[in-house]
Amino acid sequence: MVKINSCVFISGKGTNLKKLILNSNNYNFPINVKLIICNNKNAEGLILAKKWSIPFIIFNNKNNLSENKILNTLKDYKIDLILLAGYMRLLSKKFIRSFGKNIINIHPSLLPKFKGLNTFEKVLKKKEIKTGCTVHFVNEKLDNGRIILKKFFYINKKDNVGTLKKKTQNLEYNAFSEAIFKITK
Ligand code: GRF
Repeated sequence: MVKINSCVFISGKGTNLKKLILNSNNYNFPINVKLIICNNKNAEGLILAKKWSIPFIIFNNKNNLSENKILNTLKDYKIDLILLAGYMRLLSKKFIRSFGKNIINIHPSLLPKFKGLNTFEKVLKKKEIKTGCTVHFVNEKLDNGRIILKKFFYINKKDNVGTLKKKTQNLEYNAFSEAIFKITK
């Protein structure tokens, strides 16, 4: 199968990245993880890049790498899809426009509810009865692009920020991969 070359952007643990790498090792999964971009040199997710020998780039304000250089690298690696998997920095409008291909993001709430940070706190404060995750295309506005899919669960009285996070992340791993199948078929 001809796979789509993808680049995963991360900032932290990389548990979504791990699932994406494992899935991409399956013949039938439509993408390859060709490159990893991370804005945090201490991110745990970089251990995965090293483990699977996937090239990675640290892209933060400290190392003078410009968006143009990143765009050129994406071209060099023939990247046709960007996956934001816990990337805690906004991509500039110029970057999104210049890349010109699909960028998708996973967000830990049922969009359009609870955009931005601290979603679990917001969900509890609003006494929501259910929550979950959303995979969506990235456009120039925060957590606003066209929705590809959502997955949800019902909240129970004992739930707190920690349990909501765990339950949401468990949904995310399959949601991301399903969304990739959906947009590539
Ligand atoms: C995920 O919960 C995702 O929804 C959010 O950041 C988290 C990243 O987790 N955008 P991980 O780094 O994949 O473990």
